Amino acid sequence: EILRAPEFLLGAAEPHQFPQDDQVEIAFAGRSNVGKSSAINAICNRRKLARTSKVPGRTQQINFFSMGEHARLVDLPGYGYAQVPLAVKQKWEKTIHEYLTGRPNLRVLVLLMDVRHPLTDLDWQMVRWASEADLPTQVLLTKADKFKRGRVAAITLEVERELNKVNGQFGVEAFSSQTYLGVEAMRAQLAEWVVA
Ligand code: GTP
Ligand code: MG
Repeated sequence: EILRAPEFLLGAAEPHQFPQDDQVEIAFAGRSNVGKSSAINAICNRRKLARTSKVPGRTQQINFFSMGEHARLVDLPGYGYAQVPLAVKQKWEKTIHEYLTGRPNLRVLVLLMDVRHPLTDLDWQMVRWASEADLPTQVLLTKADKFKRGRVAAITLEVERELNKVNGQFGVEAFSSQTYLGVEAMRAQLAEWVVA
């Protein structure tokens, strides 16, 4: 069982602090407050593995979690939080870009977007970076519990259609850390990505 007992490994603010690139990594990215840490906790079935918060900008470093001896989950700091000073934003953008483009052991990007406002400018920037880095990307439309099922399905199709125009491998799924919609599917996906 690949997802058994993931453990916090380390937090890194700079590329030289990243752990050795000797294990497969699956990274979670998305706007500040979109639900990255909550998604990691739901998928790993650990309430407090990744710290969640009502205050956007909670995750201020790249947090690495070990999943056994073969793989890691990576919680990237959220982008797009208005209250963060420009210099800090630019530094984070740079670090995220360096991580996404310079990490040979990064296998899949899980890109979270709020189902209520997907594909913001910064989301598109992430999509472009993933496309340029040839990085397979799974989009999760989070907080799907906020809308009725039909509306979520329509938005999922629309986002799929938009991403089909981009070079690369993109999947789109609805997700909720609250109702656990999509959680089982993501567990199965992770297990597949890790052994692939
Ligand atoms: P940063 O680390 O600041 O970038 O945020 P994050 O993306 O890690 O978000 P986090 O998981 O901390 O969640 C932010 C807020 O959204 C918290 O108040 C969560 O309870 C809430 N939240 C997360 N996922 C869901 C969801 O699926 N549904 C609903 N309704 N709320 C959610
Ligand atoms: Mg977080």
